[in-house]
Amino acid sequence: MFVVVGVTGGIAAYKTVHLVRLLVKDGHEVHVVPTEDALRFVGLPTWEAISRHPVTTSVHDDVARVRHVSLGQSADLVIVAPATANTLAKMATGLADDLLGTTLLATTAPVVVAPAMHTEMWRHPATVHNIATLRARGVIMVGPDDGALTGGDSGPGRMSDPEAIFAAALAAVGAAGGDLEGLRVVVSAGGTREPIDPVRFIGNRSSGKQGAAVALAAADRGADVVLLAAHVDDGVLAEASAHQRVRVVRVGTAAELSAAVGEAAQDADAIVMAAAVADYRVADVSAVKLSKDAAPGRGLTLTLVENDDILAGLVESRREGQTIVGFAAETPTENETVLERGRRKAARKGADLLAVNQVGWTTGFEADDNEITLLDARGEVVGTAVGTKRQAADALWDAVVEVRAKMR
Ligand code: CTP
Repeated sequence: MFVVVGVTGGIAAYKTVHLVRLLVKDGHEVHVVPTEDALRFVGLPTWEAISRHPVTTSVHDDVARVRHVSLGQSADLVIVAPATANTLAKMATGLADDLLGTTLLATTAPVVVAPAMHTEMWRHPATVHNIATLRARGVIMVGPDDGALTGGDSGPGRMSDPEAIFAAALAAVGAAGGDLEGLRVVVSAGGTREPIDPVRFIGNRSSGKQGAAVALAAADRGADVVLLAAHVDDGVLAEASAHQRVRVVRVGTAAELSAAVGEAAQDADAIVMAAAVADYRVADVSAVKLSKDAAPGRGLTLTLVENDDILAGLVESRREGQTIVGFAAETPTENETVLERGRRKAARKGADLLAVNQVGWTTGFEADDNEITLLDARGEVVGTAVGTKRQAADALWDAVVEVRAKMR
């Protein structure tokens, strides 16, 4: 395959050396097109040596072979890694003031982009808009991952690992979509809030990061996704909401989530309940703000009533061919490990898969990483994942694919 690798001016350029190596070792003809800025991070001799082809940044070199369009025309695949915020903006507007720009305009090959930048830049509305524009044009985004950034800060913005970019790039060319192509998927994320009065609620610590990662992974693998988000920050949702195959629906309470799931489940092939759903709601929500003045010094007693178990309801009313996945965030007890608790829950809930993870005061919630064990309906371990929430999400979808294959 004729592969063009565009490299732009970010420190992650050093990781792209490994990406080029993976492509060359896999037998592809690789042409690296760095920007001038990229050469400040990794020099031209490195790119030439690793790709085994001459490398230039300018449209004025090799003019006889009309290099400014010939690379794009010959390409079977174009990868841009790392893609800076500036490059994404240029791509979105079609600017072509260097060899990479002209190559991108001259190609009809699949374009795979691995963004890398600081979290603030990734979350800036301009970047979010540019990403949405590029996705709408069919550009495939890989990452960015959550993690440590060069300034000592951390958050989404880290370029994905070369192996992940390599896999996504080959998938983009191999088949039009991934292994979830054509699947309709519903994912719930975040934590519901149950009102006490107009200003207070009973909530939980779920950030929605795992659910958002599950939704994004499904979309990247070809599924059409409805993401039901209960109190998830815009920043956490940014990448999923920018994806052309993800529709975000915001919900508040368990009852609202239940209604939204019920509606979306009707034509869904797979449903993943990653949201932390309140088991109880306040029996009599006060129409006015509660005040201590009503009963000074006497404390406050709230009567709670049980909410419907959405997951159990889904299992009960599942239509044929529907795969249902639950999550179980557990803390170990004196008598039971997290896995034992998960096994009991798997049996009780009857879902096809249950993703069990340990939580505590300092683990699980809000973090960027996760450690999950996937149990089937009988409580057997069918998969594990330790790593980013995206890696956990991909392990979950791998298990879903296996369950569905056995169903046939
Ligand atoms: N869940 C649900 N509806 C509820 C409560 C939970 O659909 N009212 C789902 C969650 O989205 C999750 C799974 O059930 O996928 C397990 O949630 P969890 O709170 O761990 O389970 P519970 O049934 O509430 O059990 P526990 O007694 O341990 O709280």
